[in-house]
Amino acid sequence: MDSSQEESKLHVLMVSFPGQGHINPLLRLAKCLASKGLSITFTTTANVGKMLENSNKSITETTAIGSGDLRFEFFSDGWEDDDPRRHDLGLLVPQIESSGRDFITRFITQHAQDHNRRPVSCIINNAFIPWVVDVATEHGIPSAVLWVQSIAVYSVYYHYFHKLASFPTPEDHHASTKIPGLPPLDFDEIPSFLHPSSPYVSLQNAILEQFKNLSKAFRVLVDSFDELEHEQIKIVSSNLPASITTTPLGQFHEQDLERSEIKCTRLLAPSSSNAEGAFEDNKTSTLSAPITPVGPLIKFSTGNEAVRADMWSAADECLTWLDSHPPSSVVYVSFGSVVSLSEEQLAEMAFGLLDAGVPFLWSFRPPFTKHESHSGLPEEFLEHVNHYKKKCLIVKWAPQDHVLAHPSVACFVTHCGWNSTLESLSSGVPVVAFPQWGDQVTDAKFLADVFGVGVRLVRSCEDLKNLSRGDVERCIREVTSGEKAEEMRKNALKWRKAAEDAVAPGGSSDRNVEAFVDEIKSLAR
Ligand code: UDX
Repeated sequence: MDSSQEESKLHVLMVSFPGQGHINPLLRLAKCLASKGLSITFTTTANVGKMLENSNKSITETTAIGSGDLRFEFFSDGWEDDDPRRHDLGLLVPQIESSGRDFITRFITQHAQDHNRRPVSCIINNAFIPWVVDVATEHGIPSAVLWVQSIAVYSVYYHYFHKLASFPTPEDHHASTKIPGLPPLDFDEIPSFLHPSSPYVSLQNAILEQFKNLSKAFRVLVDSFDELEHEQIKIVSSNLPASITTTPLGQFHEQDLERSEIKCTRLLAPSSSNAEGAFEDNKTSTLSAPITPVGPLIKFSTGNEAVRADMWSAADECLTWLDSHPPSSVVYVSFGSVVSLSEEQLAEMAFGLLDAGVPFLWSFRPPFTKHESHSGLPEEFLEHVNHYKKKCLIVKWAPQDHVLAHPSVACFVTHCGWNSTLESLSSGVPVVAFPQWGDQVTDAKFLADVFGVGVRLVRSCEDLKNLSRGDVERCIREVTSGEKAEEMRKNALKWRKAAEDAVAPGGSSDRNVEAFVDEIKSLAR
């Protein structure tokens, strides 16, 4: 690259909420954009930054990726390293806002004034930090948002926030929900935070708050792809024309009523009873910027495998252990970065795995706090694991993307976080779905009934107390052997191919990423 190209590289600031399920997709997007010639600064809070640096020293330096580059800079959230308040989202979200606003403002100003640095041309943020868009707007900088869950789930929250559909109410807990482009969702298949009995009020607020700001961004990117969520993308996109994004709900022009969802607004809004009062100004809020699928981001082979952001060091032994097993023979078990099971659930899962009689690799993340114990696995089970090391491996953290891509993996027992869901589909691995809460229950429904790649061990958190080792064993057998397993494997391989095609040069997501980069360039002029 000559020096003029080097100088003209545009600088994008990417701001992540400090959680593994949020950092991973945003970092994948960062690498993808860097590979297209942008200069990226990736930031999140310093306490998580320390964890990332501990597991990967290379992130302390600027890394060249394709014709662009990527560097990290972290900001303090103002709390001591071991402050337990971080585990309460209701406290964490406002805390990050107050320190994050100062950091980003300073960052923008310094980069605008100092001739040795590149001014910020665009800001991209992910979930739970919608105020980033406001800071960008205050400085006249275009901003985009990366939605880190599925488009189906986006559509459900969107319909809830804008009161476009009916949802379960305190009077009718078991009502099902009908949303254009989605199969009918039973009460336990909508994201659980929307259920009237959900105890996670701060999570519901943090999620819905984002919808107030989505129209201020110039684009909402989604880690999904057209072939996977075609109907949902079509419907969500066709109802977000730029011409009506500034029209308050209830004041549509007649021509807008031709659009099915807007008709649906008129029909349903008076009788819907969701979140009454909680978001009073949502009637005057705008809708959303255009939605663009750019995934699966995991599949963009943007080189630089060295730049990973694992909060815990991934155990290298996983891959050599998998090498010692025949193709499609191992069950991989992981419940992501946040979920923790009770001792009873762990025991049922553990003995169910043994009873299934297949080799397994279990990623069992380290506890977050002193109060979260990891002594939960039964002694008898651990003795068995120690005795049969060839057949069972338990690690604290696995290089999950590589594990799922390994030919020895036959099946994934997953909590169905969206990253795990997408990684599984992109690797062609069928699943036993074990959702706990939030979007996981909707993802589980889609994995089993829409994508045809798995079975549900439980449907929702309400079922968790009934988890039995017999069910664990039965589901693993169902997904690993027999005719139905063969069908699921075929479907999973079909999704893997579709994912590969989406990110290949000229594929649907590749074109969207190229267009997004062009958009950043044209907005920066
Ligand atoms: C959270 C929410 O819980 C989830 O519902 C939402 O969809 C995204 O944010 P999390 O529970 O951590 O995410 O699950 P998931 O979305 O699956 O993300 C976990 C990430 O950690 C994945 O990218 C996975 O590859 C990675 N991981 C997990 C590892 O690299 N190693 C492991 O051992 C386990």
